[in-house]
Amino acid sequence: MNKFLILVLMLALPFVFSSTVAADTAQGQGVYMNFCAPCHASGVAGAPKTGDKAAWQERIGKGEEAMAALAIKGFQGSSGFMPAKGGNSALTDEEVTSATIYMVEQSK
Ligand code: HEC
Repeated sequence: MNKFLILVLMLALPFVFSSTVAADTAQGQGVYMNFCAPCHASGVAGAPKTGDKAAWQERIGKGEEAMAALAIKGFQGSSGFMPAKGGNSALTDEEVTSATIYMVEQSK
């Protein structure tokens, strides 16, 4: 029994660690592609376009956490309406945050 437990732990641990490290980028990109790109890839409805440094510069100034909080709750800004979680309430806060970080990284 103990040997079995140790074996399971040995197999599981590296996976747990590597997946949390890799998750942010891979998860962020995946969520972005599916749920955020429809507006943010082309700048539909006043959305700041991913990669448009000028459009993001001022927003980035307030910090990724503050931006993610807005993306999670949704907000009406001066250029348009950002729906809560991009309109997909099934997304977790963490997924929306990682997608925000992904977009910001592409737009610096
Ligand atoms: C229906 C279109 C639409 C979708 C889908 C959408 N957004 Fe947005 N988003 C907007 C608009 C419009 C704004 C700009 C609002 C403003 O500042 O006037 C915005 C702004 C933002 C901002 C800037 C916040 C700030 O601090 O200024 C972030 C971050 C963001 N969106 C994240 C996301 C994420 C993450 C997703 C996917 C989960 C997403 N958006 C999906 C329309 C959208």
